Amino acid sequence: MSYNIAIDGPAGAGKSTIARKIAKKMQFIYVDTGAMYRAMALYFIRNGIRPEEKDKISGICKEADITIRYVDGEQVVLLNGENVNGLIRTEEVSNMACESSANPDVRRKLVELQQLLAKESDVVMDGRDIGTCVLPDADVKVYLTAGSATRAKRRYDELTAKGVECDFAQIEKDIIERDKRDMSREVSPLRKAEDAVLVDSSDMTIDEVAEAIIGLCRKPGV
Ligand code: DC
Repeated sequence: MSYNIAIDGPAGAGKSTIARKIAKKMQFIYVDTGAMYRAMALYFIRNGIRPEEKDKISGICKEADITIRYVDGEQVVLLNGENVNGLIRTEEVSNMACESSANPDVRRKLVELQQLLAKESDVVMDGRDIGTCVLPDADVKVYLTAGSATRAKRRYDELTAKGVECDFAQIEKDIIERDKRDMSREVSPLRKAEDAVLVDSSDMTIDEVAEAIIGLCRKPGV
């Protein structure tokens, strides 16, 4: 039986950084489910589909083959065989992913892939619905959050470090807007699973959060 750790929470809570760290330490596979929704969103953008064209999204998502490979321990997302890792972190893709991830056909397809990965390997999987829908029987479930100002500051620092000019107030506004959409959608909204442990990372370092989560894992030999 594989061991599964599910981490859910809003954008910018630190999920991917922490999940990657835990995976490395425990020699698990890190599954970034947001990247799968992003790769799918890229396919819609490339086909000239607008976020509100729900029927077109349902139809065309069958043509997008999303697969995952691991190169030097890093997840690589392939869209119809093409490595799209470097193309899915733009604002345009973020916005499309936020809209198109509400589509039940898109979700069905990606959830199937995620469940298969978790069945085959020990995983740390992060997303919005992992503890609630994808892996309801996960061994450890965490709902990782932080205040919107903290999350906006992290995003602001990340972009500024890359030399991207940005506006802090706008970033916070976008984060609050995206939270609202992720939490209020009809299909698999972002919410804490009843049996998930709530971790607020606002005043914690990455290492402190990672250690706290590892402390929740009890597996002989881990
Ligand atoms: O975590 P992220 O920002 O890379 O996710 C991109 C989008 O995909 C985001 O709007 C939420 C959505 N998503 C989702 O609906 N379910 C998941 N399991 C992961 C991400």
